[in-house]
Amino acid sequence: MWHCRLWDVQDVALFLNIMLYICDLVGAISIHSSQKSLTRSVQEDVFFSVDITCNGIPTIQWTFMSGTVSRTIGTWQPGVYTNITVDYSSRVQPYNNGSIGLSDLRLQDNGFYVVTVTETSGSSKDTGFVLKVNEVLYEDLQYLSVSALALASLAGLLMLTVWLLDKAYKKIVTWRRRSEMPENDVTELQPL
Ligand SMILES: *[C@@H]1O[C@H](CO)[C@@H](O)[C@H](O)[C@H]1NC(C)=O
Ligand SMILES: *[C@@H]1O[C@H](CO)[C@@H](O)[C@H](O)[C@H]1NC(C)=O
Repeated sequence: MWHCRLWDVQDVALFLNIMLYICDLVGAISIHSSQKSLTRSVQEDVFFSVDITCNGIPTIQWTFMSGTVSRTIGTWQPGVYTNITVDYSSRVQPYNNGSIGLSDLRLQDNGFYVVTVTETSGSSKDTGFVLKVNEVLYEDLQYLSVSALALASLAGLLMLTVWLLDKAYKKIVTWRRRSEMPENDVTELQPL
């Protein structure tokens, strides 16, 4: 009898263990992402691509971290609610698979981006991305060359105007001289 019961307990324990293992496998959250390190320039956009699979509706939260700064970007449950922090609301686009798009990058966006996925059961998993935002120097040069070009064209235009005015003035002067001549004759003749 004793022997038999001991076996029962062991069987039950084994069964429970297997069940827990299967539950764990089925319930496991997985976050797939291909590129974990991205480099962009100021004013460009970035897309943190992830694909989440889990039991039920996940709660997705993105957090930005840099040095001592830690900021929540947004939290959402696909199809339930979306809560994007005010600071990011105009620049962040959340997706159902957990991805986010961040547009109009600034130097301050340089840092770590962590996505935390929480299941209804309470278990959670996270993964991080590194974003490097580079300053664009050639853009300043471009601005400079564009302004230089604009100034040069303006100067050219001014010179052309001056030259045309000068020409027109000379033409008017000669024309007036020519037309004044008979007039002069008339005025000279008048007193006679
Ligand atoms: C997530 O969804 C977006 C938009 O539908 C898609 O562009 C992106 O490739 C998806 N990411 C993955 C890893 O499947
Ligand atoms: C949205 O997020 C902010 C900051 O994380 C929080 O204070 C606020 O209560 C949230 N609102 C909703 C409706 O969840």
